[in-house]
Amino acid sequence: MSRSAVRAIAPYVAGTSIEEVHRRFGHTRIVKLASNENPLGSSPLALAALRSTNRLHLYLDDAYEELRERLGERERLHAENVVLGHGSNELINTIAQSFLDPGDEAVMADPTFSLYRSAVSLVGAIPVEVPLRNGVHDIERMLAAVGARTKVFFICDPNNPTATFLSPALWSELFERLSREVLLVIDRAYAEYLEEPGFDVARAIRERGNVVVLRTMSKAYGLASLRFGYAYGDRESIGWLQRVRLPFNVSRPAAIGAAAALDDRAFLEKSISLNASERARVTTELERRGHRCYPSGANFYAVTVPMPAHEAYEALLERGIIVRSGDALRMPGRLRVTVGTVEENDAFLATLAEVASGASA
Ligand SMILES: Cc1ncc(COP(=O)(O)O)c(C=O)c1O
Repeated sequence: MSRSAVRAIAPYVAGTSIEEVHRRFGHTRIVKLASNENPLGSSPLALAALRSTNRLHLYLDDAYEELRERLGERERLHAENVVLGHGSNELINTIAQSFLDPGDEAVMADPTFSLYRSAVSLVGAIPVEVPLRNGVHDIERMLAAVGARTKVFFICDPNNPTATFLSPALWSELFERLSREVLLVIDRAYAEYLEEPGFDVARAIRERGNVVVLRTMSKAYGLASLRFGYAYGDRESIGWLQRVRLPFNVSRPAAIGAAAALDDRAFLEKSISLNASERARVTTELERRGHRCYPSGANFYAVTVPMPAHEAYEALLERGIIVRSGDALRMPGRLRVTVGTVEENDAFLATLAEVASGASA
């Protein structure tokens, strides 16, 4: 029998796959806007580098000193401030394993990225979940939830599943008031899509310390399948994560692809600019039709629908459009939809109009 903490966690539910929709409905043209992937594919420089990957029979140089130095430089930091992960997912577990004893508490928003809750529960610690306020982290109430057993404080910015982000005033409040004894974890999986960074990573690390900022190459660089994430932090926090992570947690192909993608300014800029223009176009059109969207700083948006979210989700699925139902993401009444290409977004808009008119008829 498994540990009681294992039995208590819900399995991670990924978005519905294209194969599954094909099996269920037989569609050949399926639009997937469910997993916040890059609609332009992968960085071409990463793909080219991956084609020439060799020496797969050898274990790798696990330190990745040069790559960590490069990632550090991007934020005016050093290799000692960077740890790499098998996606940033893995680092969330590593954080829980490194910093939480059974019975400790970790404060987080609700809804937010579901892995914080499961990673915390798995080590026998307690997730303290604070409801969002108008779709945004309620910093005031989250700070009030910090107690003697609080060891970790999670901020997901932009927040999955709402896509919302903190204002500069909320960042200041957070940095001023959160006890420095508590590890501040800021998950910035979607940071590239923000118009303003909100806070300075190097300054937070130097002036506050006890902070870990998670990043990933799964989104804006289009490398979700490669599994490459990383985190910035003060030397001490990063040192503990380095000690706990598994040896060889980042494969050589992942490191080679990620290193090449970092040079691919053109792909990154194209991805960000398509996302910005389409996000504005689609959300404006949805609002014009009477839907409401939280302000999005990410490559997805959370939109209201005039019916239970799972019904809208199913009706879209039947018509070959895959999105996420807010019901499964603790965001009832809304869908979470990835910003796609112009054609994909047009297909979503047209199909949603059909589905919504059926609901109001
Ligand atoms: C907020 C957030 N953090 C982390 C991740 C995990 O990303 P990765 O592919 O780097 O494991 C995701 C993926 O959807 C996410 O939405």
